[in-house]
Amino acid sequence: MTRTTKDGIPTLGLGTFGRTGEEGTAAILTALEVGYRHIDTAQSYDTESSVGEALRRSGLPRSEVFITTKVADTNLEKADFMPSVERSLEIIGVDHVDLLLIHWPSAKDAVPFEDYMHALGQARDKGLARRIGVSNYPIADLQRAEQILGQGALSTNQIEIHPFLQAPKICAYARSVDLPLTAYMPLAKGRVSKEPILEKIAQKHGVTAAAIALAFLMAEGHIVIPASSDTQRLRDNFAANDVMLDEAEIAAIRALDRGDRMINPEKSPRWDD
Ligand SMILES: NC(=O)c1ccc[n+]([C@@H]2O[C@H](COP(=O)([O-])OP(=O)(O)OC[C@H]3O[C@@H](n4cnc5c(N)ncnc54)[C@H](OP(=O)(O)O)[C@@H]3O)[C@@H](O)[C@H]2O)c1
Repeated sequence: MTRTTKDGIPTLGLGTFGRTGEEGTAAILTALEVGYRHIDTAQSYDTESSVGEALRRSGLPRSEVFITTKVADTNLEKADFMPSVERSLEIIGVDHVDLLLIHWPSAKDAVPFEDYMHALGQARDKGLARRIGVSNYPIADLQRAEQILGQGALSTNQIEIHPFLQAPKICAYARSVDLPLTAYMPLAKGRVSKEPILEKIAQKHGVTAAAIALAFLMAEGHIVIPASSDTQRLRDNFAANDVMLDEAEIAAIRALDRGDRMINPEKSPRWDD
Protein backbone atom coordinates (compact mmCIF):
# COMPACT_ATOMS: atom_id res chain seq x y z
CA MET A 1 0.00 0.00 0.00
CA THR A 2 1.60 3.28 -1.11
CA ARG A 3 1.52 6.17 1.32
CA THR A 4 1.23 9.78 0.18
CA THR A 5 2.70 13.04 1.43
CA LYS A 6 0.28 15.50 3.05
CA ASP A 7 0.14 17.15 -0.37
CA GLY A 8 -1.04 13.88 -1.96
CA ILE A 9 2.19 12.75 -3.67
CA PRO A 10 2.61 8.94 -3.54
CA THR A 11 5.88 8.41 -1.67
CA LEU A 12 6.98 5.48 -3.81
CA GLY A 13 7.00 6.21 -7.53
CA LEU A 14 8.64 4.90 -10.68
CA GLY A 15 11.59 6.57 -12.40
CA THR A 16 11.54 6.34 -16.19
CA PHE A 17 14.97 7.56 -17.25
CA GLY A 18 16.15 5.31 -20.10
CA ARG A 19 12.80 3.49 -20.40
CA THR A 20 12.06 4.61 -23.97
CA GLY A 21 10.13 3.07 -26.85
CA GLU A 22 8.14 -0.16 -26.70
CA GLU A 23 10.43 -1.69 -24.04
CA GLY A 24 9.98 1.36 -21.88
CA THR A 25 6.21 1.30 -22.33
CA ALA A 26 6.17 -2.38 -21.34
CA ALA A 27 8.22 -1.67 -18.18
CA ILE A 28 5.96 1.21 -17.14
CA LEU A 29 2.85 -0.88 -17.81
CA THR A 30 4.27 -3.70 -15.67
CA ALA A 31 4.92 -1.19 -12.89
CA LEU A 32 1.30 0.00 -13.04
CA GLU A 33 0.18 -3.65 -12.85
CA VAL A 34 2.44 -4.19 -9.83
CA GLY A 35 0.75 -1.23 -8.12
CA TYR A 36 2.91 1.85 -8.75
CA ARG A 37 0.70 4.95 -8.95
CA HIS A 38 3.32 7.68 -9.40
CA ILE A 39 5.40 7.96 -12.58
CA ASP A 40 8.30 10.36 -13.01
CA THR A 41 9.15 11.51 -16.53
CA ALA A 42 10.80 14.58 -18.08
CA GLN A 43 10.89 16.42 -21.39
CA SER A 44 14.52 15.39 -21.80
CA TYR A 45 14.04 11.64 -21.15
CA ASP A 46 12.01 10.91 -24.27
CA THR A 47 9.71 8.81 -22.07
CA GLU A 48 6.63 11.03 -21.93
CA SER A 49 5.00 9.11 -24.79
CA SER A 50 5.77 5.75 -23.11
CA VAL A 51 4.16 7.00 -19.90
CA GLY A 52 1.00 8.05 -21.77
CA GLU A 53 0.84 4.80 -23.73
CA ALA A 54 1.34 2.65 -20.62
CA LEU A 55 -1.37 4.60 -18.79
CA ARG A 56 -3.83 4.04 -21.64
CA ARG A 57 -2.97 0.34 -21.95
CA SER A 58 -3.37 -0.14 -18.19
CA GLY A 59 -7.02 0.93 -18.35
CA LEU A 60 -6.54 2.78 -15.06
CA PRO A 61 -8.50 6.00 -14.62
CA ARG A 62 -6.28 9.05 -15.13
CA SER A 63 -7.13 10.20 -11.60
CA GLU A 64 -5.46 7.12 -10.09
CA VAL A 65 -2.01 7.74 -11.54
CA PHE A 66 0.16 10.62 -10.37
CA ILE A 67 2.29 11.95 -13.24
CA THR A 68 5.32 14.22 -12.85
CA THR A 69 7.16 15.83 -15.72
CA LYS A 70 10.00 18.36 -15.85
CA VAL A 71 10.68 21.39 -18.00
CA ALA A 72 14.11 21.00 -19.60
CA ASP A 73 16.69 23.70 -19.01
CA THR A 74 16.62 24.35 -22.77
CA ASN A 75 12.95 25.40 -22.48
CA LEU A 76 13.19 27.97 -19.70
CA GLU A 77 13.06 31.08 -21.91
CA LYS A 78 9.69 32.87 -21.77
CA ALA A 79 8.87 32.06 -25.39
CA ASP A 80 9.62 28.36 -24.94
CA PHE A 81 8.32 27.55 -21.46
CA MET A 82 4.53 27.34 -21.83
CA PRO A 83 4.56 25.80 -25.34
CA SER A 84 6.92 23.11 -24.03
CA VAL A 85 4.53 22.27 -21.18
CA GLU A 86 1.59 22.15 -23.59
CA ARG A 87 3.64 19.84 -25.84
CA SER A 88 4.41 17.56 -22.88
CA LEU A 89 0.70 17.26 -22.09
CA GLU A 90 -0.03 16.46 -25.72
CA ILE A 91 2.72 13.81 -25.86
CA ILE A 92 1.58 12.17 -22.62
CA GLY A 93 -2.04 12.52 -23.74
CA VAL A 94 -3.38 14.23 -20.62
CA ASP A 95 -4.89 17.64 -19.89
CA HIS A 96 -2.73 18.25 -16.82
CA VAL A 97 0.17 16.73 -14.94
CA ASP A 98 0.02 16.24 -11.20
CA LEU A 99 3.43 17.79 -10.65
CA LEU A 100 5.52 20.02 -12.90
CA LEU A 101 9.17 20.58 -12.03
CA ILE A 102 11.96 22.81 -13.30
CA HIS A 103 14.54 20.12 -14.16
CA TRP A 104 17.67 22.24 -13.50
CA PRO A 105 18.09 25.89 -12.54
CA SER A 106 19.34 27.93 -15.48
CA ALA A 107 23.14 27.80 -15.18
CA LYS A 108 24.58 31.14 -14.07
CA ASP A 109 21.07 32.60 -14.44
CA ALA A 110 21.45 32.69 -18.22
CA VAL A 111 17.64 32.79 -18.22
CA PRO A 112 16.47 35.21 -15.48
CA PHE A 113 15.37 33.19 -12.43
CA GLU A 114 12.24 35.30 -11.89
CA ASP A 115 11.03 34.76 -15.45
CA TYR A 116 10.85 31.00 -15.36
CA MET A 117 9.62 30.91 -11.75
CA HIS A 118 6.70 33.10 -12.80
CA ALA A 119 6.10 30.84 -15.80
CA LEU A 120 6.05 27.81 -13.47
CA GLY A 121 3.41 29.50 -11.30
CA GLN A 122 1.43 30.41 -14.40
CA ALA A 123 1.44 26.80 -15.62
CA ARG A 124 -0.20 25.83 -12.31
CA ASP A 125 -2.65 28.76 -12.44
CA LYS A 126 -3.67 27.81 -15.99
CA GLY A 127 -4.47 24.29 -14.77
CA LEU A 128 -1.68 22.58 -16.74
CA ALA A 129 -0.18 21.29 -13.49
CA ARG A 130 -1.88 20.52 -10.17
CA ARG A 131 1.36 21.10 -8.23
CA ILE A 132 4.70 22.69 -8.97
CA GLY A 133 8.21 22.09 -7.76
CA VAL A 134 11.87 22.11 -8.69
CA SER A 135 14.76 19.74 -9.18
CA ASN A 136 18.47 20.05 -8.51
CA TYR A 137 17.93 23.18 -6.44
CA PRO A 138 20.33 24.03 -3.61
CA ILE A 139 19.06 25.86 -0.52
CA ALA A 140 19.87 29.34 -1.88
CA ASP A 141 17.74 28.74 -4.99
CA LEU A 142 14.91 27.27 -2.92
CA GLN A 143 14.89 30.47 -0.89
CA ARG A 144 14.87 32.60 -4.03
CA ALA A 145 12.00 30.56 -5.45
CA GLU A 146 10.02 30.93 -2.25
CA GLN A 147 10.46 34.70 -2.30
CA ILE A 148 8.99 34.82 -5.80
CA LEU A 149 6.23 32.23 -5.53
CA GLY A 150 5.41 32.49 -1.83
CA GLN A 151 5.98 30.15 1.08
CA GLY A 152 4.65 26.66 0.54
CA ALA A 153 4.20 27.07 -3.22
CA LEU A 154 6.66 24.30 -4.04
CA SER A 155 5.56 20.71 -3.47
CA THR A 156 9.02 19.14 -3.70
CA ASN A 157 12.66 19.52 -4.67
CA GLN A 158 13.88 16.45 -6.57
CA ILE A 159 17.57 15.83 -5.90
CA GLU A 160 20.09 13.00 -5.81
CA ILE A 161 19.74 11.16 -2.50
CA HIS A 162 20.61 7.54 -1.68
CA PRO A 163 22.28 5.79 1.25
CA PHE A 164 25.72 6.88 -0.02
CA LEU A 165 24.66 10.55 -0.48
CA GLN A 166 22.27 11.55 2.28
CA ALA A 167 22.69 15.33 1.87
CA PRO A 168 22.16 16.28 5.53
CA LYS A 169 22.30 20.08 5.06
CA ILE A 170 19.59 20.33 2.45
CA CYS A 171 17.53 17.66 4.27
CA ALA A 172 17.65 19.73 7.47
CA TYR A 173 16.65 22.86 5.56
CA ALA A 174 13.79 21.07 3.76
CA ARG A 175 12.52 19.69 7.05
CA SER A 176 12.63 23.16 8.61
CA VAL A 177 10.34 24.56 5.89
CA ASP A 178 8.22 21.38 5.60
CA LEU A 179 9.27 20.69 2.00
CA PRO A 180 9.38 17.00 1.04
CA LEU A 181 12.42 16.01 -1.03
CA THR A 182 12.18 13.51 -3.84
CA ALA A 183 15.19 11.20 -3.84
CA TYR A 184 16.31 10.56 -7.40
CA MET A 185 18.64 7.69 -8.15
CA PRO A 186 17.58 6.22 -4.77
CA LEU A 187 19.28 2.90 -5.53
CA ALA A 188 22.53 4.60 -6.58
CA LYS A 189 21.96 2.92 -9.97
CA GLY A 190 21.60 -0.48 -8.32
CA ARG A 191 24.79 -0.22 -6.23
CA VAL A 192 22.84 -0.39 -2.97
CA SER A 193 21.97 -4.01 -3.72
CA LYS A 194 25.52 -5.14 -2.90
CA GLU A 195 25.95 -3.16 0.31
CA PRO A 196 26.59 -5.67 3.17
CA ILE A 197 24.76 -3.73 5.93
CA LEU A 198 21.70 -3.28 3.74
CA GLU A 199 21.88 -6.97 2.78
CA LYS A 200 21.98 -8.01 6.43
CA ILE A 201 18.96 -5.85 7.34
CA ALA A 202 17.20 -7.13 4.22
CA GLN A 203 17.61 -10.75 5.31
CA LYS A 204 15.93 -9.96 8.62
CA HIS A 205 12.93 -8.39 6.86
CA GLY A 206 12.74 -10.96 4.06
CA VAL A 207 13.15 -8.34 1.32
CA THR A 208 16.01 -7.13 -0.91
CA ALA A 209 18.75 -4.66 0.00
CA ALA A 210 17.23 -2.27 -2.57
CA ALA A 211 13.89 -2.37 -0.75
CA ILE A 212 15.70 -1.57 2.51
CA ALA A 213 17.37 1.45 0.89
CA LEU A 214 13.97 2.68 -0.32
CA ALA A 215 12.27 2.03 3.03
CA PHE A 216 15.06 3.95 4.75
CA LEU A 217 14.69 6.97 2.44
CA MET A 218 10.91 7.01 2.98
CA ALA A 219 11.43 6.72 6.75
CA GLU A 220 13.64 9.82 6.44
CA GLY A 221 10.64 11.62 4.95
CA HIS A 222 11.58 11.44 1.27
CA ILE A 223 9.62 10.46 -1.82
CA VAL A 224 11.52 7.81 -3.85
CA ILE A 225 11.42 7.09 -7.60
CA PRO A 226 13.47 3.96 -8.36
CA ALA A 227 13.60 2.71 -11.97
CA SER A 228 13.62 -0.84 -13.27
CA SER A 229 12.54 -2.73 -16.38
CA ASP A 230 12.56 -6.09 -14.64
CA THR A 231 9.25 -7.42 -13.30
CA GLN A 232 10.78 -9.08 -10.24
CA ARG A 233 12.84 -6.00 -9.33
CA LEU A 234 9.80 -3.75 -9.80
CA ARG A 235 7.99 -5.99 -7.30
CA ASP A 236 10.97 -6.16 -4.95
CA ASN A 237 11.29 -2.38 -4.93
CA PHE A 238 7.55 -1.88 -4.41
CA ALA A 239 7.74 -4.13 -1.35
CA ALA A 240 9.59 -1.27 0.39
CA ASN A 241 6.14 0.18 1.13
CA ASP A 242 5.58 -2.52 3.76
CA VAL A 243 8.97 -2.38 5.51
CA MET A 244 9.17 -0.74 8.94
CA LEU A 245 12.75 -0.16 10.08
CA ASP A 246 13.65 0.25 13.75
CA GLU A 247 15.83 3.01 15.18
CA ALA A 248 18.97 0.85 15.27
CA GLU A 249 18.56 -0.11 11.60
CA ILE A 250 17.98 3.51 10.61
CA ALA A 251 21.11 4.56 12.53
CA ALA A 252 23.17 1.85 10.80
CA ILE A 253 22.03 3.02 7.35
CA ARG A 254 22.60 6.68 8.23
CA ALA A 255 26.23 5.72 8.85
CA LEU A 256 26.59 4.65 5.19
CA ASP A 257 26.56 8.28 4.03
CA ARG A 258 29.83 9.16 2.32
CA GLY A 259 28.78 12.17 0.26
CA ASP A 260 29.10 10.09 -2.92
CA ARG A 261 27.49 12.21 -5.66
CA MET A 262 26.96 10.46 -9.00
CA ILE A 263 25.25 13.24 -11.01
CA ASN A 264 27.32 16.40 -11.27
CA PRO A 265 27.28 17.87 -14.78
CA GLU A 266 28.95 21.17 -15.57
CA LYS A 267 25.61 23.00 -15.41
CA SER A 268 25.16 21.97 -11.75
CA PRO A 269 24.56 24.66 -9.15
CA ARG A 270 26.83 24.86 -6.10
CA TRP A 271 25.59 21.91 -4.02
CA ASP A 272 25.06 22.33 -0.28
CA ASP A 273 26.60 18.97 0.60
N1 LIG B 1 15.90 15.22 -11.67
C1 LIG B 1 17.00 14.72 -12.16
O1 LIG B 1 17.94 15.45 -12.57
C2 LIG B 1 17.17 13.23 -12.20
C3 LIG B 1 18.44 12.65 -12.40
C4 LIG B 1 18.54 11.25 -12.40
C5 LIG B 1 17.39 10.47 -12.22
N2 LIG B 1 16.17 11.06 -12.08
C6 LIG B 1 14.93 10.26 -11.92
O2 LIG B 1 15.16 9.29 -10.89
C7 LIG B 1 14.86 7.99 -11.41
C8 LIG B 1 15.70 6.95 -10.72
O3 LIG B 1 17.07 7.14 -11.01
P1 LIG B 1 17.87 6.13 -11.94
O4 LIG B 1 16.92 5.40 -12.79
O5 LIG B 1 18.94 6.88 -12.61
O6 LIG B 1 18.61 5.17 -10.88
P2 LIG B 1 18.11 4.16 -9.73
O7 LIG B 1 16.63 4.11 -9.65
O8 LIG B 1 18.90 4.46 -8.52
O9 LIG B 1 18.66 2.77 -10.28
C9 LIG B 1 18.15 2.19 -11.45
C10 LIG B 1 19.09 1.07 -11.85
O10 LIG B 1 19.16 0.08 -10.84
C11 LIG B 1 18.73 -1.17 -11.34
N3 LIG B 1 17.83 -1.74 -10.32
C12 LIG B 1 16.53 -1.40 -10.08
N4 LIG B 1 16.04 -2.11 -9.06
C13 LIG B 1 17.03 -2.91 -8.64
C14 LIG B 1 17.12 -3.89 -7.62
N5 LIG B 1 16.07 -4.16 -6.85
N6 LIG B 1 18.31 -4.53 -7.45
C15 LIG B 1 19.35 -4.27 -8.25
N7 LIG B 1 19.34 -3.37 -9.25
C16 LIG B 1 18.18 -2.69 -9.43
C17 LIG B 1 18.03 -0.91 -12.65
O11 LIG B 1 18.30 -1.91 -13.60
P3 LIG B 1 17.10 -2.86 -14.19
O12 LIG B 1 16.27 -2.04 -15.11
O13 LIG B 1 17.87 -3.91 -14.93
O14 LIG B 1 16.35 -3.41 -13.02
C18 LIG B 1 18.68 0.39 -13.10
O15 LIG B 1 19.82 0.12 -13.87
C19 LIG B 1 15.13 8.14 -12.91
O16 LIG B 1 14.59 7.06 -13.65
C20 LIG B 1 14.52 9.49 -13.17
O17 LIG B 1 13.11 9.37 -13.27
C21 LIG B 1 16.05 12.42 -12.03
